[in-house]
Amino acid sequence: MSSTDASTKAKSVLASYRTEPDNLLPVLHAIQDAVGFIPQDLVADIAQAFNLSRAEVHGVISFYHYFRIAPPARHVVQICRAESCQSMGGEALLAHAKQSLGCGLHEKDKDGKFSLEPVYCLGQCATSPAIMIDDKVHAKVTPARFDKLIEKARGE
Ligand code: FES
Repeated sequence: MSSTDASTKAKSVLASYRTEPDNLLPVLHAIQDAVGFIPQDLVADIAQAFNLSRAEVHGVISFYHYFRIAPPARHVVQICRAESCQSMGGEALLAHAKQSLGCGLHEKDKDGKFSLEPVYCLGQCATSPAIMIDDKVHAKVTPARFDKLIEKARGE
């Protein structure tokens, strides 16, 4: 999707919501669900619609790790950073993921094929550590299994 198409689609999502204060987060989620990120050229429109400053909208977007301000790579790899996963090897798994993909959190790998992002609980606490690749959750992920999952996604 081109950036122009993304902005046009995001604007139509914004227009479809009532712009009451409680709706800001649902609108941001709906925009990201529709186009994969929050187009930065839309922040002024969002701010105006909600009677907020652009800085306030930027503040909300940057506070929540879930929101992206740039298009993601073809595959989005989310590593759970919440408590249960952290206590069951999540830190080591994240370190491995960074090394394996050659990028940090909120970055793309060198081929631009994977985005690495944090997530805070995937509902798999009993089978930590968990990750999600695109829309699929994987539990009890070891570094070796991580590499296999990445290779499988790379081929898709
Ligand atoms: S803490 Fe990671 S799935 Fe719940």
